Amino acid sequence: MRPNTVPRMIAAFAAVSLVAACSGENGTDGASAGGYPDQNITIVVPFSAGGPTDTVTRMIAEPMAAALGGKIVVQNVEGAGGTVAAGQVATARPDGYTVLMHHIGMSTAPALYKDLGFQPLEDFATVGLVTEVPMTVVARTGFAPATLADLTAYVKANAGTVTLANAGIGAASHLCGLLFQAAAGVKLQEVPYQGTGPALTDLVGGQVDFMCDQTTNTTGQITAGKVKAYAVTTPERVKSLPDVPTTTEAGMPQLQVSVWHGLYVPAGTPPEAVRKLSGALATALADPAVVDQMAKLGTAPVAAADATPEAHRAHLQEQITTWAKVIADAGVQAS
Ligand code: MLT
Repeated sequence: MRPNTVPRMIAAFAAVSLVAACSGENGTDGASAGGYPDQNITIVVPFSAGGPTDTVTRMIAEPMAAALGGKIVVQNVEGAGGTVAAGQVATARPDGYTVLMHHIGMSTAPALYKDLGFQPLEDFATVGLVTEVPMTVVARTGFAPATLADLTAYVKANAGTVTLANAGIGAASHLCGLLFQAAAGVKLQEVPYQGTGPALTDLVGGQVDFMCDQTTNTTGQITAGKVKAYAVTTPERVKSLPDVPTTTEAGMPQLQVSVWHGLYVPAGTPPEAVRKLSGALATALADPAVVDQMAKLGTAPVAAADATPEAHRAHLQEQITTWAKVIADAGVQAS
């Protein structure tokens, strides 16, 4: 199971447009009529089903739907490190019925893609932050290196043959991989997938050597011994993975990254819809079942103060500036 192909992306594009068209046909603009929502809401996930971003989205979708008194459909649109889905939602009808779940990738995309086709701060309204997920450096069980220090030495000695999986340029796994390579002083062969869901399947199967991925995807495979874990990329250990050292403990303190997630709607979406979506998000994040699910996978809801549209927008602004420098220093460009 190998990677990106342009035809698949075009196919994905057609599917989402159809959903948007239907809502147009109803001719109702529920939000402005105050009857929002009066039809299904679609949350677009920019990566494969079953992966970490999909997992977080499906955790909150149901309690949000209950809070809104409506129905939420989760739609996976893969491609180009999440920028295909973001581009589609940026041009979707701004009526509150098309929502995007995206992560740190929204802030790295402007620096990585010259002709991105959308501007995160101009083309979207922020709804609220959701969670910030630690990452893990994991490898196939048969891979020789036993520790992060061994891995660093090994990739230096075998840079031409070691394979590093990720979910495309601009994905969190790509960004973490960039930071690892910069810290280790190597350039490795990157193997892109449409999401880390399928990448992790290939890692368990031994078809790729290692990758960086979110605890919401790797915790189960690590605790089952199906992959080996070298470190978590946060200052503190992760409660659900008590035996996995931090990158600082493992001798690579400069590898610090966690994956913040947030909800977006197209710019011009009625404030009433944004307010209701943000309220429903806050309700979902306070739901004990959501808190428990997130804890089991090494993360937690953001604080209520951070789950507001304003706090989200400020964070996005700061992150775009932060990662622009890191990416420029790394000399990486997608197109
Ligand atoms: C996914 O859901 O597949 C990930 O978030 C991809 C990534 O950004 O590494």
